[in-house]
Amino acid sequence: MAPHFRIEPLDAKFGTTFGAVVSDIELSALDEATWRDLYAAWLKYALLIFPGQFLKRDQQIAFAKRFGPLEFEMAAISNVKADGTLRIEKDNDDVMKILKGNMGWHADSTYMPVQAKGAVFSAEEVPTIGGQTGFADMRAAYDALDDGLKAKVESLQAYHSLHYSQSLLGHETAKSDGEYSGYGLHDGPVPLRPLVKTHPETGRKSLLIGRHAHNIPGMAPEESRHLLQGLIDFACRKPRIYHHDWAPGDAVVWDNRCLLHQATPWDMTQRRIMWHSRIAGAPQSEAALAA
Ligand code: OGA
Ligand code: MN
Repeated sequence: MAPHFRIEPLDAKFGTTFGAVVSDIELSALDEATWRDLYAAWLKYALLIFPGQFLKRDQQIAFAKRFGPLEFEMAAISNVKADGTLRIEKDNDDVMKILKGNMGWHADSTYMPVQAKGAVFSAEEVPTIGGQTGFADMRAAYDALDDGLKAKVESLQAYHSLHYSQSLLGHETAKSDGEYSGYGLHDGPVPLRPLVKTHPETGRKSLLIGRHAHNIPGMAPEESRHLLQGLIDFACRKPRIYHHDWAPGDAVVWDNRCLLHQATPWDMTQRRIMWHSRIAGAPQSEAALAA
């Protein structure tokens, strides 16, 4: 059957290994056949971009729920406080530290017992300078490793912790009663995850790395840090990256099981209001190896 929407792979314009722009579709009114085609496209491209959707809160949550149960329904990722005033960059409060932390390449919730399946992310207000979101294809990154490195990383694991990644930014004192409510700053056991992950639905292998990963068992701390940073530097470059320049009303949905993402710096005297609905991972495939 003909697809029920228009889909343009990012490859055509940017030469990237993943991602597609989907138009002629209304996410708040999908019929079942359209949904099935869309989900198949999501598995294939790992990132779908929907310009001009202007989803209302309930519509975004309902769309995200089509992908599965949610880890959380809707969180503002923003330098604007709930009272509408701007968060001051140099105050460097707990929320500002998390916003800065997001600028490192990462996958979501790998520091939790079950990592996220994906996220629906939308733009309400965007700055004129900076504030793009970058995505990186860890399937293509794994495929591009030479055989020696493939064999090496296949046998390795790393611990994932938001305490660890935030402490590198001087955020070691975050408290669960602080303004950043402490999601992921839990004091539970630190999850151990493989460096190479097999996608539960496509069977493709991908690198599971990013800023939360550290301390590969069996390696000296310096060697582990060096290997993990080297993998990020190798993985997160062309043709495996795409940075989305947001317009208000845009929505995206990414597969957190095979992509990394990052925020990019913006002029923080300008407002940036983004909304994140986090899709929960299936415990069968997204649970840590051990903790
Ligand atoms: C996130 C995230 C990046 C951005 O919401 O999990 O990392 O561009 N956001 O704000
Ligand atoms: Mn994130």
